[in-house]
Amino acid sequence: MAGETLLELKNLKTQFFTDDGVVRAVDGVSFEMKRGETLCVVGESGCGKSVTARSILQIVDYPGRVVEGQILFHRQRQEEGKSEVNEIIDLAALDPRSRAIRDVRGKDISMIFQEPMTSLSPIHTIGDQIIEAIRLHLPVSKEEAEARAVELLRRVGIPRPGDRLNAYTFQLSGGMRQRAMIAMSLSCNPSLLIADEPTTALDVTTQAQILDLMRELKDEFGMSIMLITHDLGVVAEMADDVVVMYLGTVAEKGDVDSIFHDPKHPYTQALLRSIPKLGLRAQGIRLDSIRGMVPDPYNRPGGCPYHTRCDDFMPGLCDKITPPPIEMGEERLVRCLLYGDQKAMADQTQQTVKVR
Ligand SMILES: Nc1ncnc2c1ncn2[C@@H]1O[C@H](COP(=O)(O)OP(=O)(O)OP(=O)(O)O)[C@@H](O)[C@H]1O
Ligand SMILES: [Mg+2]
Repeated sequence: MAGETLLELKNLKTQFFTDDGVVRAVDGVSFEMKRGETLCVVGESGCGKSVTARSILQIVDYPGRVVEGQILFHRQRQEEGKSEVNEIIDLAALDPRSRAIRDVRGKDISMIFQEPMTSLSPIHTIGDQIIEAIRLHLPVSKEEAEARAVELLRRVGIPRPGDRLNAYTFQLSGGMRQRAMIAMSLSCNPSLLIADEPTTALDVTTQAQILDLMRELKDEFGMSIMLITHDLGVVAEMADDVVVMYLGTVAEKGDVDSIFHDPKHPYTQALLRSIPKLGLRAQGIRLDSIRGMVPDPYNRPGGCPYHTRCDDFMPGLCDKITPPPIEMGEERLVRCLLYGDQKAMADQTQQTVKVR
């Protein structure tokens, strides 16, 4: 049912153990997703959006792994001869090679990427790949799977879907490939679709068409979408809720209207100021880009990770204390020392948060 909890990330930490040191790519991320909602995860390059998504499916690249936290997935399963069963699985606790996580991948949760060629094979036809994805998880005959594949291709707007079953990916345009990948990701009716920058590589018109398509399919298939993007225009158009990430942490989260109209975190405010405004460039007015660089992932600043670039930096506080999550109304959260009682927070957090 829409509005029920679908996924809960609790203090998720994913790290890469490289020869040069440990990269804390995801460093204590917590957020929740509801059934039927679109959640956008936004932030600059390297802030941990993709690693968060890959952690959910346990497909983090070597030498990375989930080291702490929980990923609670609320699964609804139809057991043979019984009514629907609700179960909660901690995906973080599953072995990346286990049967249990393979059951979830592609069936309950599927993922699409910026570059379709990373998940579509160049040596098999589109049809064979979709049919295989269907038969991997659903007990249907080859003919039934083929009929479903044609229907899915038709549904995602691929012309002459019957003929296209025999096409190879290189025979399709970028937009058509992305549609084929969406068709494949929907093959088992997932309850969650994770889309990692699905339209970044496409031209503006095709991008708008693909976003429209995802919105339609979300309602039709009754699924939730986690949409990863660095494009705030896409967020404004698609999101119900927004998670703003910075350096592996959640800086702020809330519903899309609050984030756009009343951003609390100085980082969110800076991100919003950096959106190109129509006509400004034509008038020769420069964009307000965010000051400074994202810090080196091997050498993270202590205290608030954003303090090195923040216009509201408070010496002695922001560089010492890691801001705790502060609730700002219903389902609204910000991690910034500007909010709440700073003195009390300093006293309080020193017991629980390490002051570096
Ligand atoms: N295989 C890897 N080995 C070492 N570090 C990695 C690896 N993959 C990702 N990282 C590091 O993890 C951090 C988060 O990366 P991630 O790919 O999640 O960023 P992102 O927010 O998706 O950025 P982008 O917008 O560029 O896609 C970065 O510091 C990155 O360098
Ligand atoms: Mg990424």
